[in-house]
Amino acid sequence: MSDDQQYYEQLFEFAYGVVEQASKLILEGAAARWKLAGDDYEVKKNPVDLVTETDQAVEEFIKSAIAERYPDHKFIGEESSEGKDKPVLTDAYTWVVDPIDGTMNFIHANPNVGCSIGVTHNSRPVVGVIALPFLGRIYSAREGGGAFMNRTIPLPLTGGIPQPLTQLSHCMIAAEWGSDRRPDTIDVKLPNFRRLNGDPSKGIPDGVMVHALRTTGATTINLAHVAAGELDMSWDAGCWAWDVTAAAIILKETGAFLQGGKEEFARDAPIGDVLMCRRYVAVRAVAPTATESAEEIQRRLSRELYGVVDEWTTPSML
Ligand code: IPD
Ligand code: CA
Repeated sequence: MSDDQQYYEQLFEFAYGVVEQASKLILEGAAARWKLAGDDYEVKKNPVDLVTETDQAVEEFIKSAIAERYPDHKFIGEESSEGKDKPVLTDAYTWVVDPIDGTMNFIHANPNVGCSIGVTHNSRPVVGVIALPFLGRIYSAREGGGAFMNRTIPLPLTGGIPQPLTQLSHCMIAAEWGSDRRPDTIDVKLPNFRRLNGDPSKGIPDGVMVHALRTTGATTINLAHVAAGELDMSWDAGCWAWDVTAAAIILKETGAFLQGGKEEFARDAPIGDVLMCRRYVAVRAVAPTATESAEEIQRRLSRELYGVVDEWTTPSML
């Protein structure tokens, strides 16, 4: 094992311990919330973009733990970035953290709540841990070390064996409604969803009629599911590096594919650009066929998806 990889292993063990403790805080935060009579969240950009005391407390816990152990490392976290300039990724060791992805789920007692801790080095994700505290799952990976659920179960969950997938219409795809509800966004998303879902034989000529569209309410979880082979693809815009950094290394270690929006996909952007670009497409690990390699299939499915959907831009993406 190279020196870097030994160091990544050390970071991985630390991150794993931190996410386990953060999970306990999230469960305690939920239990405490139910005893309160009344709403305990604050509104961020609009009435469906919310933050709770637990989001802030968990980020503070994770940030302090990292600062104590690795004082030279950089930190990018959702709550610490609120109201500040857009974060920039450098080659330094950087922890990229979303304390709670799926805050709306957390508020509504929906179990799709993820705590995501990623580490980048040389602008590449090298360690990732994603805990789903209400579901008792932790997805994790480090560069060169493989990807697992709950430490020992290899990903993808189909026995570690990538299953066949050759057609966009056969995909189960994660796509989020998101918290931006302006007409500029909604009026692009609705026709996208119509084309992806629609039955071409019943009057939607450009319909793909994919097997299913799924929305968990947490991009981190969608991507973890793609790594696990529990979803075939994920596609979203408007989410941030803290939603994807941990997932990016978990995806990579399973043989899944991750790229940015149409522009990044077209130029095959490096992963550092992808993490920061706010648009993401992912395809799970797939079995090769006699005529296409796994990566050729993943790129073709991404290209086909991007041929069907239009992109939108939220104010914060400008
Ligand atoms: C949300 C999730 C969701 C996305 C929303 C985000 P948060 O993050 O990632 O998938 O569609 O736009 O706000 O606020 O729960 O960390
Ligand atoms: Ca969050």
